[in-house]
Amino acid sequence: LVKTEKYRPHLHFTPQEMWMNDPNGLVYFEGEYHLFYQYHPQNKKWGPMHWGHAVSKDLLKWQHLPIALYPDELGYIFSGSVVVDWEDTSGFFDGGHGLIAMFTHAKEELQRQSIAYSKDQGRTWKKYEGNPVIENPNIQDFRDPKVIWHEASRQWAMVLAAGKKVIFYTSPDLKSWSLASEFGEGWGAQEGTWECPDIFPLQHQTTGEQKWVLQIGIDAGGPAGGSGTQYFIGDFDGKTFSPEQRKHEIYWLDLGKDFYAAQSFSDVPDEQRIVLAWMSNWQYANEVPTHPWRSAMSIPRELSLQTIDGEDRVIQTPVKTLEENKESFHSLSSFEVEQGEEVEIRQPRAPFRVIVEVEYEAGFEVQLFAGEDGKKFSIGLNGKEVYFERDFGEETSFSSDFTGRFHQQLLSSTKKAKLSILCDESSVEVFLNEGETALTNLYLPVQKTEQQINVRSTDGKTLVHSIHIDRFDINR
Ligand code: FRU
Repeated sequence: LVKTEKYRPHLHFTPQEMWMNDPNGLVYFEGEYHLFYQYHPQNKKWGPMHWGHAVSKDLLKWQHLPIALYPDELGYIFSGSVVVDWEDTSGFFDGGHGLIAMFTHAKEELQRQSIAYSKDQGRTWKKYEGNPVIENPNIQDFRDPKVIWHEASRQWAMVLAAGKKVIFYTSPDLKSWSLASEFGEGWGAQEGTWECPDIFPLQHQTTGEQKWVLQIGIDAGGPAGGSGTQYFIGDFDGKTFSPEQRKHEIYWLDLGKDFYAAQSFSDVPDEQRIVLAWMSNWQYANEVPTHPWRSAMSIPRELSLQTIDGEDRVIQTPVKTLEENKESFHSLSSFEVEQGEEVEIRQPRAPFRVIVEVEYEAGFEVQLFAGEDGKKFSIGLNGKEVYFERDFGEETSFSSDFTGRFHQQLLSSTKKAKLSILCDESSVEVFLNEGETALTNLYLPVQKTEQQINVRSTDGKTLVHSIHIDRFDINR
């Protein structure tokens, strides 16, 4: 990466140039993690969609590869998934195995599902001559197929988004699909259109019990406005999803503004479930002032289940490989911050992570990228709520939805808190209390001033047990 490009992240995936949105076709195969993505190679704005492609061995350093799928007479190539066809159920691999992509072909208002296959580790793809494999059943928004191998029923299962619900299909060979069931009418967040669903089993961290998670993007009405990612916990028998939470209860995977179209990697060893999301929001995605590319992916995260305040929830932590690339920068321990006061700590150059452990009376916040001009990104707790505030950065006039203060109820209200805050050149990802809550946000900081981290006691006293700052260098 060229360091002179303003806002170009170091730890987060970006295309070399032009427009990117959703991660697609996430799969682990023969030692490589594949990342395909919604890509417009001629423009920095959304347009005729292709699948861009990159591979990585550690989910941090990515190698860019040529475009994998181009639009054709059936339309643009919208979002979808990739699986390994280990037993050649499709018959494409002469008894061996290979990769199969399933995606939406979108032609004007018509959305249908198609497949393509690769016999050379995803380097080249051939579209199936029988496309589309699922015709449109007269539903306008009918897209984003996520395929999984359902071992208990020994067949393929697929979930796709259809308006404000999802539809499940099954198949023996990835070519012929039968409708299995629907889920979602009246469930969870309903304000926007459901997009990019995913379904996967997760293990409970303490009991070891397995449950199924149905994860869904919603293009409006997210927790901080605009795009958001919700999930349901329940059971899945290969055909039907049975939720265990209440109908109108909404579980958000992330409370920030910039975590959308999340997808999990297929075929990762040891039942690890790793997700990646597009780090933007349809409210302003087309306007974010970066050049010559637009959009980045979130840090990849490992998911599991944990009981929080009596309810099972998805918890998340950044991939373990991140820890292999850190270098300790600064540590402080045990000091008190009086009401209304703040302690200033030297901030390293991004990318870095600050881990703050506190016990607070009523309210405290951590301010990042605080420079001479007073503009900053803040994240705080006040006993009942977690909030973040995105001040005007260097050039935030592109959208009034970008700046402001956003708050959400905390899942568990204790006066002890641990914040792990991962900052790159233009993003801040916060993991609260071992990942029970995550908040992902873009931030476009002023570049040249000396910057500091402030720990501020907003209400009552705050006892800071420790602050630890690490820097990251993945190019060592
Ligand atoms: C989500 C989405 C998908 C669609 C793709 C098109 O961000 O709208 O539903 O497949 O983007 O690029």
